[in-house]
Amino acid sequence: MTVSERIEQLKSEALSAVASGASTADLEDIRVRFLGRSAELTEIKKSIGTLSPDERKEIGRSSNLASREIEAALGSRAEEVAAREQEERLQAEAADVTLPGVPFPRGHLHPSQIVIDDVIDFFVGLGYRVAEGPEVETDYYNFTALGIPPGHPARTMQDTFFVDDGLVLRTQTSPMQIRTMLAQEPPVYVVCPGRTYRRDSDPTHTPMFHQIEGLAVDRGLTLGHLKGTLGAMARHVFGEGVEIRVRPSYFQFTEPSVEMDVSCFVCGGRDPHCKVCKGAGWLEMLGAGMVDPGVLEEVGYDPEEYTGYAFGMGPDRMAMVKYGVPDLRLFFEGDLRFLRQF
Ligand code: PHE
Repeated sequence: MTVSERIEQLKSEALSAVASGASTADLEDIRVRFLGRSAELTEIKKSIGTLSPDERKEIGRSSNLASREIEAALGSRAEEVAAREQEERLQAEAADVTLPGVPFPRGHLHPSQIVIDDVIDFFVGLGYRVAEGPEVETDYYNFTALGIPPGHPARTMQDTFFVDDGLVLRTQTSPMQIRTMLAQEPPVYVVCPGRTYRRDSDPTHTPMFHQIEGLAVDRGLTLGHLKGTLGAMARHVFGEGVEIRVRPSYFQFTEPSVEMDVSCFVCGGRDPHCKVCKGAGWLEMLGAGMVDPGVLEEVGYDPEEYTGYAFGMGPDRMAMVKYGVPDLRLFFEGDLRFLRQF
């Protein structure tokens, strides 16, 4: 076989290899095999210098033509293959936008928080400010400033967690009354929601629970203002039909003190077998009273000029009643089967 014939043969071998090259990687192999540095065609070109002048011209021309033809075939085949590869990739990665989405679990407010928000909304609507304070409280704010000095028998009623000398986990939100009054001059209108702690655990007591404190101090406030305000709050939280009643009670920092009940919003007092009020017709709701003049003096307010009322309620208890939950401990166990019901 002459060199020219061999060139023709190499060229047609290369062209048929290119025609059946199925991928970009195949085509690259073919390029190396037929046009690479140690390809036969390249060797032929390198040897041209050793040929006679006639052959040199002939072989030079035909080998160059063969190279160019193979290059051109590779180029156009590479375009075809690349387009097909892209098409395949697009198909493989295609997303079906009509498939249903993956549902994202949606949370909601805790039942206690629903009541807290509801109560706060009501008071904010009346112009009250929201104030929050520390859960680790000094003995002074939690007890002494509220008329419960060291050694006072009322201290034993509060099942206190003592943290350190002079520090307690607050047993009530009432210390916020003192903090608020020390920080500003009257008039005062605040509500103070927050966590409180007592060493207590049974179906209606948990060591951590919530309270919402309310305090109003202004000129001329009376028990009538207190009753009117709390009645409106009860209707806001439990429904238009509910009534309230106040009973005499005793707290060290209010005088007179009252406890407030709401009429059973389930049976309205008409069902002796009612599960919510147990036939009593009334539900205990909160403690309240007129701020004791001694407390006003303690914070430097003049009790001859100002009077005030205060109240403290348990939103967890209110939520138990509102949603008919028999055991308060369920609220804080974090069991989703329970919490999803609200
Ligand atoms: N802090 C009292 C308690 O926990 C409730 C209360 C608050 C009573 C404000 C009167 C005024 O029992």
